[in-house]
Amino acid sequence: MVNICCIGAGYVGGPSSAVIAYQCHDVNVTIVDLNQARIDAWNSDNLPIYEPGLEEIVFSRRGKNLFFSTDVDQAIIDADLIFVSVNTPTKKSGMGAGMAADLAYIETATRRIAQVATTSKVVIEKSTVPCRTAQSMRTILEANSNKDIRFDILSNPEFLAEGTAISDLTKPDRVLIGCLQTPEGFAAQKKLVDIYTRWIPQERVITMNLWSSELSKLAANALLAQRISSINALSAICEATGADVDEVAYACGTDSRIGPKFLKASVGFGGSCFQKDILNLVYLSEQLFLPEVAAYWKSVVTMNEYQKMRFTHRIVRTLFNTVTHKRIALLGFAFKKDTGDTRESAAITLCSYLIQEHARIAIYDPKVSAKQIKMDLTEPGVGTNEADVDKHVQVCESAYEACAGADALVICTEWDEFKMNQLDYQKIFDSMQKPAFIFDGRLILDGPKLREIGFRVETIGKSV
Ligand code: NAI
Repeated sequence: MVNICCIGAGYVGGPSSAVIAYQCHDVNVTIVDLNQARIDAWNSDNLPIYEPGLEEIVFSRRGKNLFFSTDVDQAIIDADLIFVSVNTPTKKSGMGAGMAADLAYIETATRRIAQVATTSKVVIEKSTVPCRTAQSMRTILEANSNKDIRFDILSNPEFLAEGTAISDLTKPDRVLIGCLQTPEGFAAQKKLVDIYTRWIPQERVITMNLWSSELSKLAANALLAQRISSINALSAICEATGADVDEVAYACGTDSRIGPKFLKASVGFGGSCFQKDILNLVYLSEQLFLPEVAAYWKSVVTMNEYQKMRFTHRIVRTLFNTVTHKRIALLGFAFKKDTGDTRESAAITLCSYLIQEHARIAIYDPKVSAKQIKMDLTEPGVGTNEADVDKHVQVCESAYEACAGADALVICTEWDEFKMNQLDYQKIFDSMQKPAFIFDGRLILDGPKLREIGFRVETIGKSV
């Protein structure tokens, strides 16, 4: 029986390791974390993260070949393969603050492996890391370990998207496995290939060298975010000219060289990865003395910030240049639909701007708790404090409650339950102040139908 340990029971470690346990009943998978509350939640009926299909997988294998524990050392000792899936957030202070990845969690986990391992291990870098991090991990492992055991490092970046994690993991476009180009490296790589090919066709399991694999993850996220910033930049031109961004996206996307995906204009991208990984690439470029390359990728993040600010300005301008004391219903707080994750959500920036304009904000999100919303809005750097939030923010139990008495409704997240066939927009209109405004930041509503009801509608990338 193969034993796998995954260090880090987060959005990546939890689902990705649970899927291995689900697909390979003869592999023991233990997911460990230092955070007791998180592990308790994984062991309960109320999992710590929401992903469609995740519960079924966890509940069917937990206690059989899938375990969640805080006993990191024992799981390391027992494991043949160890995934390192810890967080790699942007550094908040010191060298590279605001850009470089904070590798402290990776280093702590690596040192722990070196200290407690009693047999040889394959250590797999699953977290997204700057190019050549595997080299540092190897140096730490070799310098701290017993001479009789060896460590082989693989890079196996995760490409799952939150909201579709389970289908991404069960039917991935590809899995990357990078290794040192040595006989030992290839042997370690084969062990991981043998796990993935149990359910993924061989041709989708791509092998390459370590550094290409590490850089490919940053590159893929940078390219995805760049597409969003590109269509968002075009949405500003559409609003100024009368062109319709959905039509422009369709026209461009039917070109097979461009393709239709990821061309949806919006209030801006969020999530824990895009901004962090691009800034990481910017920092890497600067370190490599490539300032033009750094500036090129930085502009993707600049455009995203501009889009969030531009949308807020449109709200204020449309509401007769003042939102002071006006009630604004914000529908959606998660960074995208089908996840409860709020990290870097555009809604946070929007709320911060609107609070500074003294608006009263009524927020509803089907999967984000009031506690999480308040925590996000009082984080250092957001620009609002607890007193502001208590005074200006109300978290509601339903879209109808948020909209009652509101001057404007703003769609921030594209949850299906906000679509025209799910919510009764006539009922919402009747309950709102007049004129009643709708700002569609996700292009999910039918403007003409809403205008028939009586709404004034403002949509990203459309002038009417
Ligand atoms: P997360 O913050 O949800 O989870 C990381 C977990 O690691 C936390 O629960 C933390 O307590 C634990 N941890 C940190 N240091 C530890 C240690 N020394 N021992 C044991 N546990 C420790 O992070 P998330 O979102 O799962 O991301 C993990 C990595 O995967 C990051 O590098 C991220 O960039 C990457 N990634 C994230 C994706 C996403 O959609 N969230 C998608 C693809 C990659």
